[in-house]
Amino acid sequence: MRKHLMAANWKMNKTTSEAVAFINELLPLLEGVKDTEIVICPPFTLLSEMKRTLKGHDDIELGAQNFFWAEKGAYTGEISAAMLKDVGCSHVIVGHSERRHIFGEKDDDIHKKIDAALAAGLIPILCAGETLEEREAGKAFNVVEKQLENALQGLTFKNRGLVIAYEPVWAIGTGINAKAADAQEMLSFIRQWIRKKYGDQSADTIPILYGGSVKPANIDEFMAEEDIDGALIGGASLHAGDFARIVRSGNDGK
Ligand code: 13P
Repeated sequence: MRKHLMAANWKMNKTTSEAVAFINELLPLLEGVKDTEIVICPPFTLLSEMKRTLKGHDDIELGAQNFFWAEKGAYTGEISAAMLKDVGCSHVIVGHSERRHIFGEKDDDIHKKIDAALAAGLIPILCAGETLEEREAGKAFNVVEKQLENALQGLTFKNRGLVIAYEPVWAIGTGINAKAADAQEMLSFIRQWIRKKYGDQSADTIPILYGGSVKPANIDEFMAEEDIDGALIGGASLHAGDFARIVRSGNDGK
């Protein structure tokens, strides 16, 4: 059975006091939740303080939204995988479409980051997804396959040592979520791809998430689909009540 996973991507939002207030509001709302893995990915500046605030709540894990693949050195403004481990991160988002499209990250950068994250013992949440133009041209499956192929080629990972998030670019922050059946079709395709490349054990254990305008009002439809193991949530994860409702939707394994 695969445990469900709900990951919050806060993007560039919240100050320290807002983050602490969020956690204090969230914890009582999650009472009784035990079968869903929860990861919160705040901005770098909040990681240490959130680790402190979450002391004694090991069921909520921390992730970063990005890092640089080199070990250390003259890379002004960058953060390494070891630094993320040092502040208590277990996960890191890699290849988010905002990194690809706004900051020009290429497949090669993403490959190096996945490699460095795995080497440091961080679990990468690898994002892949097509643009609207690519979907309309019937290329969605090819695009996602290529992104996964380029990111993972030559790398090995342990079961649950990798998370894949399908995030169609046109659904991110637009309020227009993918239809649950379309998301299921893509996630089933991804799972078959993993099975073909890495075998049954990986295909049956690697969590595959959907992301893009996930909200309390639509999460149940997604979670009812066979291959959707959870969600990567942006906007709705900034509100403790909404995030808790989404987490509760996943509170039984698949
Ligand atoms: P929204 O949930 O705001 O659409 O963002 C999705 C996302 O990009 C999560 O990584």
